[in-house]
Amino acid sequence: MAELNVLTYPDPFLKTVTKPVTNFDQSLSDLAGDMTETMYASGGIGLAATQVGANKRMFTIDVEYKEDESDSTKKPIVMVNPEIIEKTNIISFEEACLSVPDYRAEVERFEQLKLKYYNLDGSEEIIEADELFAICIQHELDHLDGILFIDKLSLLKRKMIQKKLKKQTG
Ligand code: CO
Repeated sequence: MAELNVLTYPDPFLKTVTKPVTNFDQSLSDLAGDMTETMYASGGIGLAATQVGANKRMFTIDVEYKEDESDSTKKPIVMVNPEIIEKTNIISFEEACLSVPDYRAEVERFEQLKLKYYNLDGSEEIIEADELFAICIQHELDHLDGILFIDKLSLLKRKMIQKKLKKQTG
C-alpha cells in the first residue's frame, strides 16, 4: 500500500463528477487500500476517490477511529457506487475537509440515511446511518459529484474563504 497525494482546493479535478465503478477488480481494491492508508495518515474520517485524482464512485470512511488508539481499532468501510435511498431530519454540523485545509464551517445535512452501496467484492449492502456517520457519508458523496462543503455556503462566506486560502498558498 502507498500513501497518495490529496488534492486541495482549487484543484479543478475536485469538480469531477465521477463515473460508477463497473469492474470490481484487484486494482479497485488496491486503490481503496491506498485511500484508506492516506485517510488515516492525514487524520481524516473519510476520503473520496476524487480527492486522490481517481474518477471512481468510491470512498473510504471511519468515523470512530481516534489517532491515539492502536491500529486494531481501525474499522474502515469502503463504499462503492453509494446511493441514498431514504433521508430524514436536517441538522447542522461544523465540517472540515482534507482538500480544504485549515477551514471549518457549519453545513446542513440529513441526520438519518438509508444507503445502498457495494463492497469491493461487488456484493450489495443496505445500511442505516445517523449523526456523524450520516454526515460524513453525505460529505464524501458530494465529493463524488464534484462538490466541496464550501460550495454549500453563502457566496459571502465563500469569498472570505477564497481570500484566506489565496493568502495561505501565496
Ligand atoms: Co472532504
